[in-house]
Amino acid sequence: MGKKIDHVGIAVKELEAAGKFYGDALGLGKGDVEVVEEQKVKVLSLPLGESRVELLESIDPEGPIGKFLAKRGEGIHHIAIRVENIEEELTRLRGLGVPLIDEKPRRGSHGTRIAFLHPKGTGGVLVELCQSGS
Ligand code: CO
Repeated sequence: MGKKIDHVGIAVKELEAAGKFYGDALGLGKGDVEVVEEQKVKVLSLPLGESRVELLESIDPEGPIGKFLAKRGEGIHHIAIRVENIEEELTRLRGLGVPLIDEKPRRGSHGTRIAFLHPKGTGGVLVELCQSGS
């Protein structure tokens, strides 16, 4: 089965300013905004081909994006790979010894189920597995 990039998550200080650049200047359009309480984040999703750019604004300085912004500033936060069966992928990767942040899937934006792999096993990139909701 071919895998695809579901989205690239970008941590931003202000969703509105970043939305103007990506949406208007870069021409990705309007997109939609969703608050994901579990992740303490407000997400603006902009379609880009078969993928999306997700602009992530923190709604809580103690949340993952709040901490990331304080430590690293704005920038790419994670890359999400679309998978068909997230439990199967997690089991397979665990079997290969890949370090996981999430042992079980949790809720992402758009009704997706997501799980993060630890950057120490991925060449320093936070990789998200993402199964579309339905
Ligand atoms: Co994501």
